[in-house]
Amino acid sequence: MTVPGGGSLLRVDRLTKHFQTHRLFQRRHTIHAVCCASFELTGGETLGIVGESGSGKTTLLRTVLGLYEPTGGAVYFEGSALDYRDRAARRAFWRRIGVVFQDPYSSLDPRMTVSDLLREPLIVTGAKMDARERVREVLDEVYLPQSVLGRFPHEFSGGQRQRIAIARALMLKPEFIALDEPVSSLDVTIQAEILELLARIQRETQTAYILISHDLAVVAQTCHSVIVMYGGQIVEAGPTAAVVESPSHPYTQELLACVPSPDPAGERARIKRRRELFSITDERSWTLPPCPFEGRDAR
Ligand SMILES: Nc1ncnc2c1ncn2[C@@H]1O[C@H](COP(=O)(O)OP(=O)(O)OP(=O)(O)O)[C@@H](O)[C@H]1O
Ligand SMILES: [Mg+2]
Repeated sequence: MTVPGGGSLLRVDRLTKHFQTHRLFQRRHTIHAVCCASFELTGGETLGIVGESGSGKTTLLRTVLGLYEPTGGAVYFEGSALDYRDRAARRAFWRRIGVVFQDPYSSLDPRMTVSDLLREPLIVTGAKMDARERVREVLDEVYLPQSVLGRFPHEFSGGQRQRIAIARALMLKPEFIALDEPVSSLDVTIQAEILELLARIQRETQTAYILISHDLAVVAQTCHSVIVMYGGQIVEAGPTAAVVESPSHPYTQELLACVPSPDPAGERARIKRRRELFSITDERSWTLPPCPFEGRDAR
């Protein structure tokens, strides 16, 4: 069931992830990869996570998805707290989400055919659906011909691989898809193609997205709201228009200053057109709570 636009689908409350480094004959170090991240994902909308390399974007996403055990905090899906230690609950959650991992070159197993790659989410989660029929449908949704089914990932271009990764994420008809840098390794025309494909899927199916990018221009064009990460913390959050037009944190201001724009008027028109594609209109307010996990042992 999809929460239609406006309802809270996922709420992340002070989620924290520390890593402990293990080196022979050396002192242990704690890496504060994510500290006290709180945000909300609304059904049918796109939430952007932006920040420089190493700021904790992927770690935050992987912790939300239950791929890393959280050091502290909680995640609520449709109002219920997720218990990642409960294997059955974890699988039930995974049945309702899709993931496109960072880098389409390493995220698809080179030994599997497209057919195997698309069927894998059904096998892993034990979802009951007609695999053959669903594979056919998702290939149509991402504009790939049925003839790709017997081929291997190395036989495709970066853009085609990303379509395969998106098709795989769509297999379970998810309520939201987590997209980790879905376009950063692609050239600008293929980027535009993939972003427009994602916009169409969202319009037709009301699927929500969490979209990670280090490129504020991509986030400005595609996201209803955005969180800005720096050093493992959320330093700014809010509706994208508000954050982009009047950033309050110096790091966000710096990020915005780095967005190249040889033609500011054309750029604004392009952002406006893309935002219309993603049906971005409303404004909301956000608050960031203080971190209660300071000094807590890393797991
Ligand atoms: N498994 C791990 N063990 C130890 N440290 C880790 C692990 N995964 C990530 N880190 C550390 O956590 C921090 C955040 O890493 P993360 O991959 O989340 O950054 P990112 O914002 O996704 O960067 P990028 O834009 O380059 O993908 C980094 O300092 C990284 O070294
Ligand atoms: Mg990353």
